[in-house]
Amino acid sequence: MRDTLIKVVAVNGSVRMEKSDTAMLLGPFLEGMEKAGASVELFYVKRLNIRPCIGDFYCWNTKPGECIISDDMQILYPKLRGADILVLATPVYIPLPGEMQNFINRLCPLSPLIEPILEKHEGSTRARFHENVRIRKIVLVSASGWWELGNFGIVLHIAEEIAKKVGVEFAGAVLRPHAFLMRENKEKAEIIKDALKHAGFQLIKDGKMSEDILDKISQPLISEEDLRQRYNEPYMKIKHG
Ligand SMILES: Cc1cc2nc3c(=O)[nH]c(=O)nc-3n(C[C@H](O)[C@H](O)[C@H](O)COP(=O)(O)O)c2cc1C
Repeated sequence: MRDTLIKVVAVNGSVRMEKSDTAMLLGPFLEGMEKAGASVELFYVKRLNIRPCIGDFYCWNTKPGECIISDDMQILYPKLRGADILVLATPVYIPLPGEMQNFINRLCPLSPLIEPILEKHEGSTRARFHENVRIRKIVLVSASGWWELGNFGIVLHIAEEIAKKVGVEFAGAVLRPHAFLMRENKEKAEIIKDALKHAGFQLIKDGKMSEDILDKISQPLISEEDLRQRYNEPYMKIKHG
């Protein structure tokens, strides 16, 4: 009998790991998921040895379902196969930190998690997860430095594409622009952390996150002009002494 406990695997792609802005968002989000009854496992890609895909199609043409590279992805593959929800957590790094990109490449439609059959669906080429892969939802948690939400565009597109390519639901994006300012504004940080917990809880209990909670997480903490000035100040000091 299939067990009914919802299993979540979260992958944090920030090179700053526990000290990262991404971790500051992911912590309360996962806490909310656990509170709603899910079991959660968290991995930091920087801490794992995940080598780049070597592109030889071994997992596709030679031994479907097996990756020839012997590294820590071999630990992650069974965990990912058994997860219901995959949380991709990453900072925006024009567009991604290299370690996160390696991880994503090793998940691509050529990877061992996915049945090596291509199909045409709604005008684009799709693969699908092998039937022994449980993942039904993919969710994005992301931190960025600049002011506007538009900065998440490419990262959001990547997460949506991964879900679309393998035919699983993209369950939404938790986006926090100028995330570092949460560390200075304790009052707002508490409100945002509560909203993050709520979003995680909702995702498990209702299967989706509400727009107003996501908006609360993304709310501006400073004016656009003031933020630009803050970023420009150190350089201006060097330039003008
Ligand atoms: C190499 C690099 C590229 C970045 N590119 C962007 C960017 O395109 N847009 C943006 O809003 N922030 C950008 N940032 C800022 C980070 O997204 C931001 O500082 C984030 O909060 C870092 O999260 P972390 O602590 O989880 O690593 C970049 C930072 C670095 C180091």
